[in-house]
Amino acid sequence: MSAAVRRITVAAAMVAGLAVATMAAHAADDTIKIGHYASKTGPEATFGQSSDKGVKMAIDEANNAGGVLGKKLELITYDTQGKSAEASNAVTRLINNDHVVALLGEVASSLSLAGGEIAQANGIPMITHASTNPKVTQGRDMVFRVCFIDPFQGYAVAKFATDNLKAKKIAILYDQGQAYSVGLRKDFSKAVKQLGGTITTEQSYTGGDQDFSAQLTTIREGQPDAIFIPGYYTDVGNIALQVRKLGITVPLLGTDGWDSAKLKEIAGDALKDCYYSNHYTPEDPRPELQAFIKKFKELHNGETPDAMAVLAYDGANVLLDAMKRANTTEPKALAKAIGETKGFKGVTGTITLDENRNAKKPAVILQMKDGEWRYAASIAPPADEK
Ligand code: PHE
Repeated sequence: MSAAVRRITVAAAMVAGLAVATMAAHAADDTIKIGHYASKTGPEATFGQSSDKGVKMAIDEANNAGGVLGKKLELITYDTQGKSAEASNAVTRLINNDHVVALLGEVASSLSLAGGEIAQANGIPMITHASTNPKVTQGRDMVFRVCFIDPFQGYAVAKFATDNLKAKKIAILYDQGQAYSVGLRKDFSKAVKQLGGTITTEQSYTGGDQDFSAQLTTIREGQPDAIFIPGYYTDVGNIALQVRKLGITVPLLGTDGWDSAKLKEIAGDALKDCYYSNHYTPEDPRPELQAFIKKFKELHNGETPDAMAVLAYDGANVLLDAMKRANTTEPKALAKAIGETKGFKGVTGTITLDENRNAKKPAVILQMKDGEWRYAASIAPPADEK
């Protein structure tokens, strides 16, 4: 073989190699990749597991209906283990290695703050279905949410405690390591004072702590009518058991971070006549919600979806709806369409995003009664301050 012929053969092989690579890239382009990051393991594992079920349901339904923009959707999910650093890693991988067009997640506000920073820096839109701390979307035009925010949630629990429980003196025990809990401490205490009540003491813990006796002894000395604990379910369960061991009998009040079937498993009777605010109740008779619950139960051995599963389903569907309206997955156009979401009929309720990329929805208060979390009240979202 002459040198010239050899050169041509090598060149041809290179062209062929290139063609194979291009074809592979094309095959990948035939799907729309969506990234999801969630705590599938760790102390908040049910948050991620439930999110996963909700997101998958929405994606599967869309794929079974033929996909979106003529393509099938491909969902890529990474576990955050409930840790901020892992949330950052997951989002970095989803953007840089998997080239997702959008992100769904996280649940815990601290983790959405970490992941959102990276989404924003890379210009990839992100929708959190459940993070309620206001800072998650603040100053980040790529970050959106489909749930209410904590100034409202803190107010809702304060309003219920004051009006319905006639609680005048309330103690607070919050998780100093979670943006969610730190924010709610402030929101709740502000609302209680506005409603004419007092806060007897504000004590803190760190997620994973096992001994709360020092804080609870101080709380007991203040003789509160109720104790507000804006934490996540594993810690709240442990705290509730110790509260009762110390002979404190007043109701415990909480927020959406309590929403896990695990809470009842950990704390059982210690939760009797305790209350928490949430995004949804399975007792709500709206037909679209009941249809969703029925389908979810069929797919998951009769399991009733928790708030996280329902919100995750809505979050994913808001993204798909925006994709259709934008008629592209180009990040800026997609972000614009997400921001323009108006009157979207979700299973958690009607979703309209405001200029701060947040949703405004009512909260429900649930009460532990005869071993079940039962609907106790609805608190309407605050009127527009404009
Ligand atoms: N709102 C919580 C947070 O921001 C997360 C959460 C939402 C937990 C709904 C349970 C149910 O951290």
